[in-house]
Amino acid sequence: MISEKIAKAINEQIANEQFAAQYYLSMSAWFYKNDLDGIANYFRVQCKEELMHADKMFDFLNDVGGEIVVEAVGKPPHQFQNAIEIFEKALEHEKIVTKSIFNIMKLANEESDFATVSFLQWFVNEQVEEEANASQYVTKIKMVHDNPSALYLFDQELAQRVFVPDPTAKVK
Ligand SMILES: [Fe+2]
Ligand SMILES: [Fe+2]
Repeated sequence: MISEKIAKAINEQIANEQFAAQYYLSMSAWFYKNDLDGIANYFRVQCKEELMHADKMFDFLNDVGGEIVVEAVGKPPHQFQNAIEIFEKALEHEKIVTKSIFNIMKLANEESDFATVSFLQWFVNEQVEEEANASQYVTKIKMVHDNPSALYLFDQELAQRVFVPDPTAKVK
C-alpha cells in the first residue's frame, strides 16, 4: 500500500507529464506554422511519449492501491521567438521534470517504499536519455538554424521519428 504523501506526489507528477505533453504539442504547432513539419513531427512524438509517461504512472498508482486524483493541467506558452528558443525551452523543461522525479524518488526512499523506488527507476533512466537528446538538439539547431539547406536536412531527419508505444502499457 502506497502512502498518501507519495500517492499525492505521483498524482502531481501525472499532471506534470501531461503538462509536458501540452507544452510539446504547442511547440509542435509552432513548427507546423513555420513549415518545418519534420521538427513538428519530432515534438508531436515527444507529446505522445509524455502522455505515455502519465499513463504509466496512472496504472502504477492504481496497481499499488493509491487514490488517483486527476489534476488540472496548465496552459503552455505558445509564442516563441525562434526554433533555438524552443529547443532550449524543451531542455529546460526536461530538467524540471528530472528534478520532480528525483524528489519523488527521495520521498519513496525515505519511506522505504521499494515498489515506488523500483517503478521510478525507469523514469530516472528515461530522464537521462531525455536530457541528453534535448541537449544534443540544442547544439544541432544552433548549427543549422541560419543555413536553409542544413535546416532542410535537419527537418528531414526529425521527420523520421516515430512513436513507439510502451510494450507494457495497458492501453496502447
Ligand atoms: Fe516524461
Ligand atoms: Fe520528457
